[in-house]
Amino acid sequence: MTVDTLNATQVEVRALAEERNAVILAHNYQVPEVQDVAHYVGDSLGLAREAAATAADVIVFCGVHFMAETAKILSPEKTVLIPDLDAGCSLAASITGEQLRDWKAEHPGAIVVSYVNTTAEVKAESDYCCTSGNAKAVIEAIPPDQEILFLPDMFLGLWLERVTGRKLTIWLGECHVHAGIKPEHIERWQTEAPDAELLVHPECGCASQCMAFGNEQTHILSTEGMVRFAERSPKKRFLVATETGILHRLNKEVPGKRFEAVSEQAVCQYMKMITLDNLRTGLRELRYEVDVDAGTAARARTALERMVSIGS
Ligand code: 13P
Ligand code: SF4
Repeated sequence: MTVDTLNATQVEVRALAEERNAVILAHNYQVPEVQDVAHYVGDSLGLAREAAATAADVIVFCGVHFMAETAKILSPEKTVLIPDLDAGCSLAASITGEQLRDWKAEHPGAIVVSYVNTTAEVKAESDYCCTSGNAKAVIEAIPPDQEILFLPDMFLGLWLERVTGRKLTIWLGECHVHAGIKPEHIERWQTEAPDAELLVHPECGCASQCMAFGNEQTHILSTEGMVRFAERSPKKRFLVATETGILHRLNKEVPGKRFEAVSEQAVCQYMKMITLDNLRTGLRELRYEVDVDAGTAARARTALERMVSIGS
């Protein structure tokens, strides 16, 4: 958004950001007024790359806690802020460092690939991290005869098995928002809008079922991938199976096309904890700082650096 279309609070937020030499990074699931004031809006991969490359002194992360931790690990010399410390992630909470250490002990010699939706402690036990935007490329970068422990999202893991043709050992974690998108949500739309393209996030419980339809109108994509796909597609109508926050970006960046959520209930309450008000307070008071202890960060950095360098 250009500065002349921002409201008074957004103008204040931008002025505070300038004063602090801060960059505001927002995930695609953030509320519209936060997306509109951010300097950069994107998916987990884009945000991690942006955090690693920024010249700003302060990174204000409008997203969930593991994303801010990722920014801190990739840019340890920066101050990283999150406007609400309670912005967690049910998927990241589905495996602890201790559980991963036990799992690794049962599979000596296996390579650990962790989805970025994990705590810093879990990343520190991992060989590679990936996001939905580059998970396939990360798996393909590992020798084919190597056992891979993939965590924590089982639906993403099952989708990766299909698209890479490799057998993975998969942790049975899930995101409550995406697991809540059921095959019946998709089926209803397939009857009501049979010509629409269906954009599905790989964390969805329905992803593998959708693929089983062998339907050429079904596309499994990261949130950024959805925006890029809709831009290129000649189609005018799209059904979106992910958190509903992405609709704001799709409507804004791909005008003249119709986007509908397959489920209006697909709302991540953690992402919505960030508001324009707590963003402003965070910038004013330089709170809440996200820190990762140096030892954990050093062990997690290699896996994250591999993630930001693999895939387009
Ligand atoms: P993306 O990386 O595709 O934006 O997904 C992040 C996420 O938290 C999905 O729930
Ligand atoms: Fe985590 Fe799910 Fe929310 Fe994404 S949508 S941040 S995976 S709880």
